[in-house]
Order: sequence, then structure tokens, then C-alpha cells
Amino acid sequence: MLVAREELKTLMKNKFVAAGLSEEHAEQTAEVLTWSSERGLHSHGEVRVEYYTERIAKGGITHDPQWTWEQTGPCSGMLDGDNGCGYPFAIKGLEYAMQMAKENGIGVVGVRRVSHTGALGYYTEMAAKNDLCLLTMCQSDPMVIPYGGAEPFYGTNPIAFGAPTADDRFVNFDMATTVQAWGKILDAKSAGRSIPDTWAVDVDGRPVTDPHMVNALVAIAGPKGYGLMMMVDILSGVLLGVPAGKNVSSMYHDLSEGRDLGHLHIVIDPARFAGLDAFKQHMSEVLDELSAVKPGPNADKVYYPGERALIRKAACDAAGGIEIVDSIYDYLTSDKLYINSWDHKNRFAE
Ligand code: NAI
Repeated sequence: MLVAREELKTLMKNKFVAAGLSEEHAEQTAEVLTWSSERGLHSHGEVRVEYYTERIAKGGITHDPQWTWEQTGPCSGMLDGDNGCGYPFAIKGLEYAMQMAKENGIGVVGVRRVSHTGALGYYTEMAAKNDLCLLTMCQSDPMVIPYGGAEPFYGTNPIAFGAPTADDRFVNFDMATTVQAWGKILDAKSAGRSIPDTWAVDVDGRPVTDPHMVNALVAIAGPKGYGLMMMVDILSGVLLGVPAGKNVSSMYHDLSEGRDLGHLHIVIDPARFAGLDAFKQHMSEVLDELSAVKPGPNADKVYYPGERALIRKAACDAAGGIEIVDSIYDYLTSDKLYINSWDHKNRFAE
């Protein structure tokens, strides 16, 4: 059903506040989730609310985190979130990184000991709108078979890059290092759809189409995707002194415990390289040149990364709201904190 943007955001925020999160953190979290939903990233939007609400209610997200910030050099710093809600700390860490980049050309901030930080494109868009490039990445719970292995070891470890242009476009490349994000499995479950047999495997490592049978995901591009997800885990985990690899906490196990996740922002100020105006102008030209490339078979045009999400956002604006599945709206408008408990189930249990 179609739900107006502000109604959806308010419903999500209200759940988080009812579970014990501060108004400020609930507001920021609901905004990022709404941002995701209206770009078609439902897997990182309203689909997650029930799970977050349960984790907040059970104390696995700190309600009043005693966070700390330490600037460790002119261009580096560590933000410790005391296992508070991930979104507000990813935003706060980016603000520090952007400030250092404006002052010194580059800003690298490790955001450590936080909960899930969602769709990374929110942060890359935020940087691009501030005339900055951002490379950002974070850990995710082990659910991907390493190349040549038979057991999950790494997470879907997403990585994203954003850059401004001279017009209202911006590049927003944002991907999980798996063929599909785990959220897309959640999407398929909530919509009752099957999945392509190239996304995931069952307990025996066999490809599956039933999202309820999924035991592990598969990295993109074989050993290359495996190496990329390892790099993300090193830079957003080992580098920040939090658990890494198979020791990263599970999203759906013990919702009363903090997750200790890591997230790294690397902000670059184009003004210190080609010059801001020259960079932005050149970026616009590159996007124009890409748009002029002759489409291949089964493609209507060549899109730049992030373009299709903006088209989906424009469609939501035109429709006057965001299309979500009825059962989620029923939950959001109910007086229950959560209906389906995830606690102590592994991530693949229903
Ligand atoms: P996706 O596969 O939908 O898109 C990946 C990238 O490809 C995007 O930049 C998109 O703009 C681009 N793209 C897609 N189709 C295109 C086309 N036809 N032409 C040009 N570019 C195209 O993204 P994925 O991997 O499913 O990730 C979804 C979201 O999940 C992301 O926002 C990611 O950050 C988030 N995520 C978050 C995790 C976390 O723990 N915080 C873990 C995993 C994913």
C-alpha cells in the first residue's frame, strides 16, 4: 500500500521511541530508513523496523550511549559509539571526517562499537552534497562462504563511493560485496517471492531459490569479491580494534547484547586535487559521456551508479508516497513493539 513519506517516517520513529531510543536517534534512524525506502531499497528501510525495535527494547542497542571522540591525527579519528544505534554514529563520524577533510584535504574516521548502519548510500550522498568524495565501508555478520570454503566467514561487507558533479546529479555507487545483500533475502521473504539460484546456498552449499532455505550467501566475482570483502573487514574491523571475520556478531542472535560493529569513512576534498570546480565540471562531463553510450542488448540506456535510485525516489515523490507491503504497515500502526521475535534465532531462521 502507498504510505506518505512523512507518515512512514513518523511511524518508524514512534516504534523506536516506544522501545526506548532517544527522540534524536529515533529521528535520524527513521530518516535514513525512509531515504532507503523511497529509493527502492526496502531491504534497508521499513523491513528492518521490527528487528531494530526488538533489539532496542531488549537493550542490544544502548539507549543513552556514552560515546567518545578522539582525534588521533590531523586527518584521523576514532568515534566509539558505546553500542548505540548505528545510524546516528555513522552520521556523526562522517561529520567529523568531512570537517577534517575540509581543513586538511582528507578525513578518515573509524566508527567503532555501533549497531547496524544500514544503506551506505545515505552517507555517500551526504558527502557529495557537501562537495566531498566519500569512500565508506562497514562490517556485517558472517554469512558468506569464503572462496573455496564451505562455511560462512565474512559478512556481506558493503562498500560505497560518492562524488559530486557540477549539476544536481552525483555518483552514488553502493554495493554489498555479495551477489545480493542479505536484506534482499528479507525482501523476498516478506513479499513471498523466490530468489534466483545464483544468490545463495543451503546448509550443504547447494544453490537455492526458496529464501527460507538460505544458509549462506555468495561473494561477487569469485576470489575477487572474496578479496574485496576481506579488505572491507580489515579496514572497518581489524583497523578499528573490533571483532573481525567470523567473530563479528550476528544480527539475529541475542538481541540483548551490543554488536561491536565497525564502519570506516574516508573523505577526500576534491579542492585539494584537481580543484573543486574543475572536478565537478569533469564529473558532469563523464556522466554526460556515459549517458551517450549506445545501449547494449536488453538495456534502455547506460545509467550511472545511483541514477536508478534517484529515478525511484522521483517516482515516489510523484505518487505521493512509498509503496510498502500491507503486513509491515499493519505492524507499524499496531500498538505492539514487535510481533515476530528474532531473538536467539540464527540469522537464517524464520
Ligand atoms: P544493488 O545491487 O542494488 O546496487 C549496487 C550498485 O549498482 C548501486 O550503486 C546501483 O546504483 C548500481 N546499479 C544497479 N543497477 C544498475 C544499472 N542498471 N546501471 C548502473 N548502475 C546500477 O545493491 P546491493 O549490493 O543489493 O546493496 C543494497 C544496499 O544494501 C546498499 O545500500 C548497501 O549499502 C546495503 N548493505 C548494507 C549492509 C550493512 O550491513 N550495513 C550490508 C550489505 C548491504
